[in-house]
Amino acid sequence: MKVKGVAYRTIWVNSDGWSVGIIDQTKLPHAFVTTSLATWEEAAHAIKAMIVRGAPLIGATGAYGLALAMRVDPSDAMLEKAYTVINETRPTAINLKWALDRVRNALHNKPASERAAIAYRVAAEIADDDVATCSSIGDHGLKIIDALYEKAGRKRTINILTHCNAGWLATVDWGTAIAPIYKAHDAGIPVHVWVDETRPRNQGASLTAWELNSHGVPHTVIVDNAGGHLMQHGQVDMCIVGTDRTTREGDVCNKIGTYLKALAAHDNGVPFYVALPHSTIDWTIRDGVKEIPIEERAQEEVTVMSGRTSDGEIVPVTITPEGSKAANFGFDVTPARLVTGLITERGVCAASEAGLTKLYPEFA
Ligand code: MRU
Repeated sequence: MKVKGVAYRTIWVNSDGWSVGIIDQTKLPHAFVTTSLATWEEAAHAIKAMIVRGAPLIGATGAYGLALAMRVDPSDAMLEKAYTVINETRPTAINLKWALDRVRNALHNKPASERAAIAYRVAAEIADDDVATCSSIGDHGLKIIDALYEKAGRKRTINILTHCNAGWLATVDWGTAIAPIYKAHDAGIPVHVWVDETRPRNQGASLTAWELNSHGVPHTVIVDNAGGHLMQHGQVDMCIVGTDRTTREGDVCNKIGTYLKALAAHDNGVPFYVALPHSTIDWTIRDGVKEIPIEERAQEEVTVMSGRTSDGEIVPVTITPEGSKAANFGFDVTPARLVTGLITERGVCAASEAGLTKLYPEFA
């Protein structure tokens, strides 16, 4: 997508041919800053510290992390060390393991002299695949938005609620949940997005709002608890969210708070769609609540907020009493029964094993 007229992906190889460029997402929305990863340890740190985040993007970053490792030491010992450390940076999104496995498998039994080049090639394939995949998700999701617009007599704005950031910043380009919104906006369908702020890290308020603003998509940031009220008052035509891991039976694990939006949508008859690339499906598990590991992060992400003062300084402020503990669960699971449909790069299907395996017969 473009930032001030310049086209960007969220990850790239720099002109030196080996270091990896990324956007420092911790600086948004107040500053657009790019930075470089020169070692696999820096790649691991960027994922853990959420300098890059979003399931597909952390997968691509992990893949480039292995390439950076192979560049300095193409041994099996280094491959295993970098694989293990990077894989443990964030436990919930399956895309990370998917991408690391893809690079590691490609390196199996390959001569040391070829390993770095192979790893860079596979990482680039993962990134390119994500761009094509997300663009297709956008095309399929556009049809759903267009059908809602048709139902509304092509007369009024379609209001879409989203949670967290599943836009282009969360992927290599386009996004998952936001891709259909970009495509609808570009096709001339009047869309307006309710952007959940997404405490504690505010990916909605900081990242989704920044993206939509840059692309000129009308939107309004709301507090996380406002969605149910808006749905009760007919202000939401549909919800679209992303997912960090989808089970073979269609349960979806996404940013904490997604489940409550799905419950409110169900209670109010609002369609609740989840957009996902193939790399987010964990075919080995069925029950998301029981089987998906939920990341728990530092309490300080809850107790301390940072923001820009009127003189432009970014300052942290503590919002809880000294001595109060905080719990910080990163994700929750929305059971398949609350999901209207899964929007994938191969089309839209029911959130069920039958629905998914019809689109992906190779996993039946
Ligand atoms: O903790 P984050 O910011 O990495 O969480 C991101 C999300 O929850 C996204 O919705 C998810 O990764 C899907 S992204 C296309």
